[in-house]
Amino acid sequence: MDKMIWDPSFSVGAEMLDEQHKGFFAIINQLIEEPDAAYSSEKISDLLTSATKYAVEHFRDEEAYLEAIKYPDLQMHKMAHKKFLVKISNATMLVMEKKDGPTDLLEYLSGWLVNHILVLDVKYKRWKEQAESAGEG
Ligand code: FEO
Repeated sequence: MDKMIWDPSFSVGAEMLDEQHKGFFAIINQLIEEPDAAYSSEKISDLLTSATKYAVEHFRDEEAYLEAIKYPDLQMHKMAHKKFLVKISNATMLVMEKKDGPTDLLEYLSGWLVNHILVLDVKYKRWKEQAESAGEG
């Protein structure tokens, strides 16, 4: 599996949130870089704990930011965050019960993150830019 590489297309126009997204990439890359360790249940458990904790903190900060900028699609964005937390919790159980491989989970995590940032997160950046340029006119 390829490592996750952050590039400016992932920027959401807020430095703190960009840094948090990069941190998420780093957590996932740790496991991609250590494929053998990915099969140790202790390592998987550590990864999932870190990823879940990181996601909860990031979602809290991002939702506070969206509230501050009065983003109109905040509720829908919150729902996407909630669904992810349910999914990661279910996926964790499957991996821990050895009903699913860690590679599936890593692919899910990286796929979700890329898709979420590039589709939903980038949407609030564009909305903010448009709102700002409309305000200038
Ligand atoms: Fe950056 Fe909506 O998560």
